[in-house]
Amino acid sequence: QHVVILSGGISHERDVSLRSGRRVADALIKAGARVTVREPDEKLLPWLEQNFDDVDVVWPVLHGVSGENGALYSLLRAIDVPYVGSRPTAAMLAWNKATAKALVKRTGIRTPQSIVLPNDTFRELGATSVIDSISRGIDFPAVVKPVEGGSSQGVSFVNEKSQFSRALVTAFTYADGVLIEKKVSGTELMVGVLDFGEGPFAVPPVEVVPNSGVYDYAARYNAGETTYYAPGRVDEAVLTQVSELAVRVCQIIGLADVARVDFIVDDEGTPWFIEADPIPGMTETSLVPLGIQAAGLELADVYAQLAEHAAA
Ligand code: DAL
Repeated sequence: QHVVILSGGISHERDVSLRSGRRVADALIKAGARVTVREPDEKLLPWLEQNFDDVDVVWPVLHGVSGENGALYSLLRAIDVPYVGSRPTAAMLAWNKATAKALVKRTGIRTPQSIVLPNDTFRELGATSVIDSISRGIDFPAVVKPVEGGSSQGVSFVNEKSQFSRALVTAFTYADGVLIEKKVSGTELMVGVLDFGEGPFAVPPVEVVPNSGVYDYAARYNAGETTYYAPGRVDEAVLTQVSELAVRVCQIIGLADVARVDFIVDDEGTPWFIEADPIPGMTETSLVPLGIQAAGLELADVYAQLAEHAAA
């Protein structure tokens, strides 16, 4: 099987994508696949068309806008190249955290109270007026994050009104919209959801406990900065509930093949949906591979099955 892995790209998560892509490639090579790793540059589509008969499947391991907004998936569909990943519209819906929350909330799954602020509104109304109205509409502490984007980039925690200004400006450097969300405290559980063609299933939810107390970019990608528990240290019933919710969220949004759904379980044991990741990290410290290993599965086997299913 010839798998073309796309990694790198032009997003803020380029470095993470390079690491994820390399690790997926190594696992697939171990499984016996022929692997080509390349950038999603302007030569990609002509190259795929020229090599159409030689490529079995493309696997975009592209985090951030270059892969996760669904546009690249649409292009691959247009030239009829099979790929590992979701339908373009599903990726697009998950990529925007506000859209994903709205869809999931309609089905009765809890997600923290939030406000979306487009950059245009921020500019038109001015910081003072916007911050006044956000402060009236959200409970503290709050999380301010780019409405699109991953790896915790541009995310700040806000305990009082005076901290909003800096947090909003930081988040707007990563996206044209900001999500201001009530911070739920509790156990952070991230759930990988896989599908080899026989229906989606969750691997054990992974609990993250960052040394600094905040699961930020450094805590995500520097070995030793976070302790991972797989499965997480919550009641068996909560693990089951969170796993079922993760599969349901993927079905609601339409995510397929491999995705990750993040929750916070509060002190009463209630899971709150935070976000769904259409192209989750696959680095040495990423959560989907940790969940796969906690399930007793080999990364090489799992990735080979994902590629085979997508190519079929
Ligand atoms: N968006 C990154 C890659 C992650 O959360 O895994």
